[in-house]
Amino acid sequence: MKIAILSGPNLNLLGTREPEIYGTTTLAEIEARAHEVAAELKVEIAFAQFNHEGDLIDAIQALGGRTVAPGVAPQLREKADGIVINAAAWTHTSMAIADAFSAVRVPYVEVHLSNIFAREPERRHSVLAAGARGFLCGFGALGYEMALRGLVNTLRHAKR
Ligand code: DQA
Repeated sequence: MKIAILSGPNLNLLGTREPEIYGTTTLAEIEARAHEVAAELKVEIAFAQFNHEGDLIDAIQALGGRTVAPGVAPQLREKADGIVINAAAWTHTSMAIADAFSAVRVPYVEVHLSNIFAREPERRHSVLAAGARGFLCGFGALGYEMALRGLVNTLRHAKR
């Protein structure tokens, strides 16, 4: 089983970016932990972060077995069984990313470090949540691990 773990804009700055909101764990540390959990669960993971919306859409299409744009990294070119997504600010606005998920039909779990429902009004809505298998927020870096475990469990045991 292959799971892609995708992060949106500014999450490359985790560790130093607004640590009072997002904590001090870096994205590299989150990735390292994800590899440990993947080994335990016996799944393959591909971990990537995007600051450009079109690049994330290209990756989702490739992971869904659709068009492979030239810029898509080799690790994202093979079809995935599931995706863990923290779309960061695009969560609240991007119909294009929501449409990409609808088009490829790869099951996904949405994760956020912060509790988006306890933040500014414009962050309290996700355009991706309705299509997700599961949704997690407010657990900081641990949320990525929880989302990975939840998604793998769902794919292995869920009826749909
Ligand atoms: C975030 C929440 C978003 O509102 C914000 O734009 C982010 C990070 C989170 O993980 O808490 O960049 O997705």
